[in-house]
Amino acid sequence: MNFKGQNIVSIRDFSRDDIEHILDVSRTMVPIAKGKETSDLLKGKILATLFFEPSTRTNLSFKAAMLRLGGSTLGFTDVKSTSAKKGETLADTIRMAEAYSDIIVLRHPQEGAARLASQFSSQPIINAGDGAGQHPTQTLLDLFTINEEVGSIEGKNIALVGDLRYGRTAHSLSHALAMFNANLTFLSPKTLTMPTAVIRLLEQEGANIKVATTLEEVAEESDIIYMTRIQKERFPDPSEYKKVAGSYMLDPEMLEYAKKTMRIMHPLPRVDEIPSEIDSSEHAAYFRQAFNGVPVRMALLALVSGVVK
Ligand code: NCD
Repeated sequence: MNFKGQNIVSIRDFSRDDIEHILDVSRTMVPIAKGKETSDLLKGKILATLFFEPSTRTNLSFKAAMLRLGGSTLGFTDVKSTSAKKGETLADTIRMAEAYSDIIVLRHPQEGAARLASQFSSQPIINAGDGAGQHPTQTLLDLFTINEEVGSIEGKNIALVGDLRYGRTAHSLSHALAMFNANLTFLSPKTLTMPTAVIRLLEQEGANIKVATTLEEVAEESDIIYMTRIQKERFPDPSEYKKVAGSYMLDPEMLEYAKKTMRIMHPLPRVDEIPSEIDSSEHAAYFRQAFNGVPVRMALLALVSGVVK
């Protein structure tokens, strides 16, 4: 694929070769991401970051990525401070961002918002999460992390745990893992299982899927446990959230049965899924994973700008 000018909306828009290329470019960005080398690859370019939903890592790592490549950023994280509050449509907000910048990163509570935005912009739109839909840049950094932590993705046992219904990181990641022939295990509360529409697509993609019933079982068999937060803000009824809150919490004792090389990942923020005692364990990869957002997003910005082929 020629990435120049491409939108990054869904991981399903990319082939395995495309993804491998992004991961290769990401690797070359690590010394710059760490500040050990400098770069002005994107000097003179402006990135607009439009966050209609809260964000820490995605927002900061996109900004860090742009700044590390010598570019500049503008944007907002508080919708209340924007004209959306006055009733401006997403289409109009996007038209403005397009006029003021070269690449637009968008996070929005509505599923499909990034796809819609791409129809109103001649500049590339990067989906930083659309409701319970997709989060493709998170998936790319997740894949990068799996490669770094356990050497490869193909054939690995990867368990996705928690809110598989509303969790967009789990949706995107499962499609990518199917592409790379990993073995998927799903573990979630009964009311938060992977949506049927996602399962159908995964089946078409030839995914190898198993459903687990306990965290102990998952801890024993997995190469990667991908924990996720219950997406409280997506529950139409708060009492339904209360019923499932705290459903799956890792416990250091469960890890005694895990392979020594097993790694725990989490897109973060965590709520109570991973107690802080686990942070110092050899299994904890989630903070390294969060750092990997920088080189991977640098690669994406350089590719869609066309300064790297
Ligand atoms: C995730 C998201 O926004 O979907 N966060 C992130 O980007 N790292 C996960 C979450 O909010 O639970």
